[in-house]
Amino acid sequence: MSFDHVWVNANLATMRDDTLGVIEDGAIAAKDGRIAWIGPRAGLPSHAAPVTDCAGAWILPGLIDCHTHLVFGGNRSAEFEQRLAGASYEEIARAGGGILSTMRATRAATEAQLVQAALPRLDALLREGVTTIEVKSGYGLEMEAELRQLRAARALGAQRAVSVVTSLLAAHAVPPEYKGRQGEYVQHVGEEIIPRAAAEGLADAIDAFCENIAFTPEETARVFAAARQHGLPVKLHADQITDSGGAALAAAHQALSADHLERSNAAGIAAMAAAGTVAVLLPGATLILRETHFPPIAAMREHGCRMALSTDMNPGSSPALSLLLMLNLGCTLFRLTVPEALLGVTRHAAAALGLKDRGMLAEGMRCDLALYCIERPAELCYWLGGNPCIGRVVGGIRA
Ligand code: NIG
Ligand code: FE
Repeated sequence: MSFDHVWVNANLATMRDDTLGVIEDGAIAAKDGRIAWIGPRAGLPSHAAPVTDCAGAWILPGLIDCHTHLVFGGNRSAEFEQRLAGASYEEIARAGGGILSTMRATRAATEAQLVQAALPRLDALLREGVTTIEVKSGYGLEMEAELRQLRAARALGAQRAVSVVTSLLAAHAVPPEYKGRQGEYVQHVGEEIIPRAAAEGLADAIDAFCENIAFTPEETARVFAAARQHGLPVKLHADQITDSGGAALAAAHQALSADHLERSNAAGIAAMAAAGTVAVLLPGATLILRETHFPPIAAMREHGCRMALSTDMNPGSSPALSLLLMLNLGCTLFRLTVPEALLGVTRHAAAALGLKDRGMLAEGMRCDLALYCIERPAELCYWLGGNPCIGRVVGGIRA
């Protein structure tokens, strides 16, 4: 058969079923950026393609970090110290810090500066085997700065071997120039920012922050209605600090995902499961904010709500530069099983982004691979630090 490249002598965690879909001593063949053949090495058809001997390494689908705020100016280590001294995330936000302090630093940065600041963060994630990453705006909070963040995100995808998926999060906080005129800002987002981002092809989805320190469910619904008018799927930061019915709201709008969910109720989770809305779990934010409410994992399992797991990489609540560390936190904090955690950064993360061509190792899927020097897949969740990733393949090409 005609292949471009073949990998042999590898154990494959295909993620095709809920127990990892392991193929021991497997082989994968790529053609035109896709997986053209996969199975036990003994069944590999004869071919003349170059071969990589993986020396017993494990191969997973390239990891997908499905919720990040990777592009921003400055950082918030000073607020971290304030929180260590007792201030809460909410208090800091209400005093004009938090998201608004990153907004000021982001507005002051050029696109090139935003890219330069984000590249080392991106590289840290890629080194661990990430091949697809979602990047949100949400620190511009005005037309040009929001678009600049999205352009910077697209530029990152052009500078590195990684697929970048963008979400416009203009409804992240009310900018100071709209203080006391929150409804007008929502209107501006819906009638001006979303249409422009859509027209320029800069946003793959629309996100919002539904919370008492951000936008109400009604305002969120208005943002979602604008997204729908422009044919864009939606996602939601939901029920992180209070239960504002965010899970049910996301489900009612057929959101791709609802994220955080620390305080979601079981009915909201049931609605998400019925709508196919993926629950994105963000244990980095739970840890950093020393949150004691955990997402209702039992209800997610009971209702069959798919769970994804992500870094939430952002300068405030989750300065997390390791998706592997999130696997560990997902298991230790949220009590996920190893297969649940690994599905959360592969197949279910793809679903959280609406991507049907990745997240599993199967014929016809993109040939995005992550190679690890480990004895068992559980090691990816077990180590607290360290990096067993020994290679990435993106679209069939060694990255
Ligand atoms: O996902 N929850 C809101 N947004 C971010 C935090 C943003 C920030 O603090 O800068 C999050 O946790
Ligand atoms: Fe977030």
